Amino acid sequence: MYKILFNLVFRKMDPEKAHHLAFFWIRLAASVPGLRQLVALVLAPRDAALRTNALGLDLPGPFGLGAGFDKNAIGIDGLAMLGFDYVEIGTVTGEPQPGNPQPRLFRLVEDRALINRMGFNNQGSARIAARLAQRQRGSLSPVVGVNIGKTKVVEEADAVADYVKSTERLAGHADYLVVNVSSPNTPGLRNLQAVSVLRPLLTAVRAAADAATAHHVPLLVKIAPDLADEDVDAVADLALELGLDGIIATNTTIGREGLLAPAARVEEIGMGGLSGAPLKDRSLEVLKRLRKRTEGRLVLVSVGGIETAEDAWQRILAGADLVQGYSAFIYEGPFWMRRVHKGLGARLRRDGYRSLSEAVGANA
Ligand SMILES: Cc1cc2nc3c(=O)[nH]c(=O)nc-3n(C[C@H](O)[C@H](O)[C@H](O)COP(=O)(O)O)c2cc1C
Repeated sequence: MYKILFNLVFRKMDPEKAHHLAFFWIRLAASVPGLRQLVALVLAPRDAALRTNALGLDLPGPFGLGAGFDKNAIGIDGLAMLGFDYVEIGTVTGEPQPGNPQPRLFRLVEDRALINRMGFNNQGSARIAARLAQRQRGSLSPVVGVNIGKTKVVEEADAVADYVKSTERLAGHADYLVVNVSSPNTPGLRNLQAVSVLRPLLTAVRAAADAATAHHVPLLVKIAPDLADEDVDAVADLALELGLDGIIATNTTIGREGLLAPAARVEEIGMGGLSGAPLKDRSLEVLKRLRKRTEGRLVLVSVGGIETAEDAWQRILAGADLVQGYSAFIYEGPFWMRRVHKGLGARLRRDGYRSLSEAVGANA
């Protein structure tokens, strides 16, 4: 059904316009009294066996929406209505910014992939903090992660102050906070993954979050799949040293290997981060490496190329406490989360686990 809609309508539209249209419908449905509950009943049935606790948070399941879909925190409840167990908003930057010129989002349908160079288009931390503060949280409201990044015009040398500004504004509204140093679309951002730079950045963000709230806001760092294996280890060691709560792996890749799309088309698209199916193997590899290095001492959130319940299950067995998806949502549509949840529940029972947490890292 969604495949027909995708091929007849969305596929013919500019991908960013299609995103805005679909997101508008989602928000509209969530705003109609009664409809939100009805849609949630169909798309977000809860399986008690999938309930989990991670980062000190109670979640109806392990499967969240990755950052970048709801950059401005405008549709959190609608996304939960569709079945996501939690929603990561952002990336939010210190200052509002328009992002890169359009077109900046491209589909590679034959690869079940996307390339984007959005460039952190968002309304900025002040406005988004105000929006989060006004949110009415009800029984259907999901856990909300807030992902922060650097404002483009801020020099690399001043990055810490920019992240701290966002932290001061947003920490009080975040169930968890993510320092994003891995988007390929802000010049120099990924340099912040070097441990010498990352240490003072994460230390300052941790301190700012602690100063902004009376309770502990879990802090995670999101890394790129393009890091060398030793650098993955170095970030893991740093996260442990600084007492971070977890790592999100991975963001999009600058790599273009193994694509089915014609090389000329890929070249024509140009710069940007590749996401979706082609990211699957590397994302799993990074997860396994992180698990080996951290031995269950950090919460690991696996994202990148998850398309099926089996993909999500493999991540959990490999050590992911939580998983996220983004690109497959575009290709699979609103029944995707339901399918993944059903498949996860079935696998849990098939393999004789009594709870999700029992399965985490079982194959590590
Ligand atoms: C259009 C688009 C925008 C994205 N924007 C962000 C972002 O602002 N911040 C971020 O941390 N990740 C962003 N991502 C990366 C995703 O959160 C995710 O890490 C990546 O797409 C891999 O997961 P997937 O293969 O399931 O899509 C974006 C991805 C896409 C496709």
